Amino acid sequence: MYKYKKDFPIFKNTKFYNKDLIYLDNSATTQKPQIVIDEYAKFYENFNANIYRGIYRLSEEATSMYEGARTSIAKFINAKSNEIVFTRNTTESLNLVVLSFAKSILKKNDLVVLSVVEHHSNIVPWLILQKEIGFRIEYIDINKESFELENIDKYLELKPKIVSITQVSNVTGVENNIKEIIRKAHLKGAFVIIDAAQSVPHKKIDVKDLDCDFLAFSAHKMLGPVGIGILFGKEDLLERMNPVLGGGEMILSVDQDSCTFKEAPFKFEAGTVNFADAIVFKKSIEYLDGIGMDNIEKYIKELSGYTYENLSKVNGLKIYGQKNNSGIYSFSLKAVHSHDIASFLDEDNIAIRAGHHCAQVLMNRFSVYALSRVSIYIYNTKQDIDNLCISLSKISDLF
Ligand code: ALA
Repeated sequence: MYKYKKDFPIFKNTKFYNKDLIYLDNSATTQKPQIVIDEYAKFYENFNANIYRGIYRLSEEATSMYEGARTSIAKFINAKSNEIVFTRNTTESLNLVVLSFAKSILKKNDLVVLSVVEHHSNIVPWLILQKEIGFRIEYIDINKESFELENIDKYLELKPKIVSITQVSNVTGVENNIKEIIRKAHLKGAFVIIDAAQSVPHKKIDVKDLDCDFLAFSAHKMLGPVGIGILFGKEDLLERMNPVLGGGEMILSVDQDSCTFKEAPFKFEAGTVNFADAIVFKKSIEYLDGIGMDNIEKYIKELSGYTYENLSKVNGLKIYGQKNNSGIYSFSLKAVHSHDIASFLDEDNIAIRAGHHCAQVLMNRFSVYALSRVSIYIYNTKQDIDNLCISLSKISDLF
């Protein structure tokens, strides 16, 4: 995999005190290869026109490129094109399901099951809707040894209408057995929503095989542009949902008293959508497919094991999680504040994330305010991890 690093210009352009950039904040966002960056210029220089609206060649070409991107994303996760809704990000995808689908089926006293490892994007929208409707929320706890979600059976006995959980925690990197959870939840009649922001970039995801009802992820965490998110929804569920945003291009007809909507997914894409970034996202998918998602999964797994073993050797470092296949590890180091750790590492041109990671429920569960986090992607190397651990050991020696 080392050969792919040269495709990412940021690693040539961002020396600091003559030190190469070691970028280990990939769960927050990934870097972009040159062919993805070039795709922007190519689009704006040759094809730019608003989609759907223009009865002229340029607009028709841009429309066909946008729909081509939808088809390629659908293929990437084994969905149908009309099951792919373009949003701004995972957060907006999850909000759309909450504000449309969940709002239409939940009543006072119904139950929604979330988990303590959820990102705020899979907690806050539920809390907002709960204020309006008054349903109950139960949080699946984690197993103290494996850091996986506890057995879901006891939560399913409470007969939830919806289970909404993450596949891979953005804090511990631990993957939950969502296929089994989805199977069990469906047997009890619950719908299942999956936050796949930290899993789709790392491994082949097949929504048909998982049989999830909804699945959300973002382009920018998989070498694509910011500002593009995906919501997969089963065709029949998307069809029965109401739009949340109203405006241009999502309607069939409008008069003074009423309006009718286009079919899914178009009824969810009001106004001028971010067609340029959707088209650029297709290039990222092609790049990932070129490497092969199986190769990516294998490489991340190997480097993740190496990261775990080497972090574990740093004196005074405590990992909040287990060895995992995602290459995401959050840790404390003696009593040093995570912001200080990040600043010290920055002196060595090493970028990590520090703070609560938009997962305050999990921070409370761990009884900490903040942690430091490293997260790897395809351009990271064993040398990056060695340098990280040398820098962390220097910090450890200071305290
Ligand atoms: N959700 C992203 C992260 O975990 C931003 O850093």
